Amino acid sequence: MNTLLLDALKCRNRSRPPIWLMRQAGRYMPEYRALRAKHTFLEMCHHPELIAEVTQLPLRSFGVDAAILFSDILVIPEALGVGLRFDEGIGPIIERPLSDRRGVEKLPSTSMKETLSYVTDGIKLLIPQLKVPLIGFSGAPFTLASYMIEGGSSRDLRKTKQWMVRDPESFHQLLSKLADCAIEYLNMQIDAGVHAIQLFDSWAHFLSHDHFEEFSAAYMHKILQGIKKDIPVILFCRGSSVFAEQLAVIKPAAVSLDWQCDLIKVRKHLGPQICLQGNLDPDILYAPETVIRKEANNLLHKMKGDQGFIFNLGHGMNPDMSPDAVRILVDVVKSQKNEV
Ligand code: CP3
Repeated sequence: MNTLLLDALKCRNRSRPPIWLMRQAGRYMPEYRALRAKHTFLEMCHHPELIAEVTQLPLRSFGVDAAILFSDILVIPEALGVGLRFDEGIGPIIERPLSDRRGVEKLPSTSMKETLSYVTDGIKLLIPQLKVPLIGFSGAPFTLASYMIEGGSSRDLRKTKQWMVRDPESFHQLLSKLADCAIEYLNMQIDAGVHAIQLFDSWAHFLSHDHFEEFSAAYMHKILQGIKKDIPVILFCRGSSVFAEQLAVIKPAAVSLDWQCDLIKVRKHLGPQICLQGNLDPDILYAPETVIRKEANNLLHKMKGDQGFIFNLGHGMNPDMSPDAVRILVDVVKSQKNEV
């Protein structure tokens, strides 16, 4: 078993840093597109065999140091009965979005164990086949709530924030319900065998400092306290460098950082106990090979000797990126000398 990721999450990695990439299994891979030609995205998410197969595509093609479960954060809203579909060229659509507190009160008390068992079946198929750790995940409550209110991706989260400031009490009720679902769902993933967890609060960068504390960080904290102990948790949100200190207070194993910040400064600020994940600008992958090598080497050089560093992008892969760019990145990281 390749333990680089788990060692780095404990800030005790004395070898080269591990590398994996957010959205590493996706449309930029020809092998993914070939499977996708035969199934809808949701069919792929719902079938344990396909979950196991797609999760492993980037391991086979690139030899990354960790697998991330192939699924989507929106399976929790789907399990709560709001209706989910993915429209070509548009993205996720929630068919019956929530618009008021009555909608929250009427949400069913669905058991995640019953509705999301296909995910744990996928994990159980995967575990015996893997030679690298498996990262499970969940959407964090604020981001899940925003999809359930906006009805899909939104440029400004206007409906969500209007609700939040006009009726914070029922907004909290929704966040609390989603945190309970995430806790149940993550504990299922842990029992099925995942080695680490990443929480995605992708849309939390729309919040002010104080609102981030109240509506995002507080619920990620609740999830950390509710899941089984001794499982390392990575916290991700877009624009996380602004909130790094607030995230560190919750005491996750790692914070995943965007490319706007300098990891050396973040390390100085947060101290040696927390693992830092990131933070290459994903758009570097559109550059010529020499530039990709130079930028990746710069980041490696900065973090040389740091025992708690995971090489990743500041956000995910895009569908129009080249698999060759990923091959180059993995090669640069793996060529790094082992000494610390
Ligand atoms: O990282 C991985 O490879 C693991 C799988 C994964 C997916 N989505 C696969 C996926 C993970 C961890 C996610 C998380 C997710 N899903 C987030 C949080 C991460 C982030 O990027 O901020 C969000 C916001 C979603 C919701 C979602 N799902 C969006 C906005 C989209 C893109 C819509 C589009 O068509 O561009 C999806 C679809 C999706 N999720 C795809 C994949 C591989 C593409 C689906 C396809 O094949 O058409």
